[in-house]
Amino acid sequence: SIYSTASKASKVVASEIANLIRARNQTGQNTVLGLATGSTPLQVYSELVRLHEEEGLSFKRVITFNLDEYYPMHPEEIQSYVRFMNENLFDKIDIPQKNIHIPDGTIPKEKVYEYCKEYERKIDEAGGLDIQILGIGRTGHIGFNEPGSLAKTRTRLVTLDEITRSDAAAAFYGEERVPRQAITMGVGTILKAKKIYLMAWGEPKAKVIKKSLEGEVTEQIPATFLQNHENTKVILDEAAASEL
Ligand code: GLP
Repeated sequence: SIYSTASKASKVVASEIANLIRARNQTGQNTVLGLATGSTPLQVYSELVRLHEEEGLSFKRVITFNLDEYYPMHPEEIQSYVRFMNENLFDKIDIPQKNIHIPDGTIPKEKVYEYCKEYERKIDEAGGLDIQILGIGRTGHIGFNEPGSLAKTRTRLVTLDEITRSDAAAAFYGEERVPRQAITMGVGTILKAKKIYLMAWGEPKAKVIKKSLEGEVTEQIPATFLQNHENTKVILDEAAASEL
């Protein structure tokens, strides 16, 4: 779907998430959300906060799993995705702390493999992701699944693409300060979600959106794997859709 602005599009995504949460709340069931960082989902989060504050939408039965985190990364750092999620969403809603899962950028290297397996296990134990929201990187990455990530990949430690590191340079006050690695859910983890919203705003995303939606499915552009997921909704503003 194409909307005139990111703000309108974000409200639609937020209201669909809210509808599922309300329905589940009514029957006493949990809602499991896969969440993303970056600038793309910001207005979805602000709308969910508004629905909580103004309409009493309760997140007490919501369980969340974030896609990724830089590695290494301390949760207090300003670039940390833990901090991002707290500031933009979790601190402003009534979600129990124990329901929040974000890959831990402080795990010692020798424990990362086990940690990632445990992250997958927790997603399964929660019943799997009901909704996963995604932005997209200039390399066609989803989460931090860079070019070369296969369709079956699971949560793991990955090496960031140079393009991704250069896009993150401003946030880290210089490219040399951008971590070289990240922990990310795999493409396979993402594709298991029952519903996926891929969102992109603005002209800089137009090229990668065209390749992702209209190009052949290839691990060179991991977002193309979404073409094989039967319940993915692509949500664009006019600028991001301008090359389609
Ligand atoms: C980072 C995140 C991705 C996100 C991408 C795009 O690489 N790990 O999940 O989709 O940035 O960022 P933005 O939404 O700011 O364009």
